Amino acid sequence: MKEIHDFTIVCRRQLGDQYFSLVLQHQGTMPAVCPGQFVEVLVDDCREVMLRRPISVHDVDAEKNTLSLLVQIVGKGTRRLATLQCGDKLNLVYPLGHGFSTNIASDSRVLMVGGGAGIAPLLYLSKVLSSKHIRPTILLGGRTASLIPVRSEFEPYGSVGIATDDGSMGYRGIVTQHPDFGKEYDIIYSCGPTPMMKAVAKSAAQRGIRCEVSLENMMACGLGACLCCVTDTDEGHKCVCKEGPVFDISVMKKWYE
Ligand SMILES: Cc1cc2nc3c(=O)[nH]c(=O)nc-3n(C[C@H](O)[C@H](O)[C@H](O)COP(=O)(O)OP(=O)(O)OC[C@H]3O[C@@H](n4cnc5c(N)ncnc54)[C@H](O)[C@@H]3O)c2cc1C
Ligand code: FES
Repeated sequence: MKEIHDFTIVCRRQLGDQYFSLVLQHQGTMPAVCPGQFVEVLVDDCREVMLRRPISVHDVDAEKNTLSLLVQIVGKGTRRLATLQCGDKLNLVYPLGHGFSTNIASDSRVLMVGGGAGIAPLLYLSKVLSSKHIRPTILLGGRTASLIPVRSEFEPYGSVGIATDDGSMGYRGIVTQHPDFGKEYDIIYSCGPTPMMKAVAKSAAQRGIRCEVSLENMMACGLGACLCCVTDTDEGHKCVCKEGPVFDISVMKKWYE
């Protein structure tokens, strides 16, 4: 069920020039949140930003009643969010959309591929899979090392590989060229820039591997009402906010055939 709550920022971390993370605490009981679901954040005190901004759930701590966000500063809304400090309030509508499938066999060989801000939902996904004794391979890609901000957070949950375009960290090249990308897997989860996800989807389809991708189309209402986030799938037009953001690539054949 969707809820609207005021959260208090209990931790704020600046992660290089472009990223910051927020840990948000709610006083009441939070609804269950699935990995891959997102929140719509109200950007307060900013006249230029009328619409809420969609941000993935980066982590959830049910015991502490907290939810974390990892945000890349790209425009006026995220710039305003970056000025918030501990103790400030943030209003969220959540949990939104359909997340990743986590009901998989405990012996599944899992690959996660994240690029840019698309690495955000993969942390909570890896945490949930780890609670099922699944240890994924997690490949994170970015142009340069400073744009892969939270590598160490993933390390308790899987085997982490890095690919940077400039070779400043890990493998030099794109994430789909990383040596671990071509290994055998039962399922691949991916979130990041569309060209990266298309390459992941194409390779998964060619190798017969089940694959889910999380789309980051521009959104407005986040609730399936305005149709501004619609994407073309093999099953017709779908609202990314309501019917996604996670889609199985079996309905995205236009991406790779
Ligand atoms: C389901 C979903 C989950 C997301 N999760 C995260 C997350 O966890 N962390 C994160 O940092 N970002 C995430 N995003 C992207 C984030 O919503 C946008 O970066 C943000 O809305 C930009 O707002 P702004 O006001 O700062 O930028 P604006 O001033 O509105 O725009 C600045 C620039 O960013 C581009 N832009 C705006 N929205 C998007 C978008 N959705 N995708 C690509 N480019 C965009 C615009 O075209 C423009 O060039 C997610 C998006 C979706 C749809
Ligand atoms: S954002 Fe309004 S329908 Fe998806």
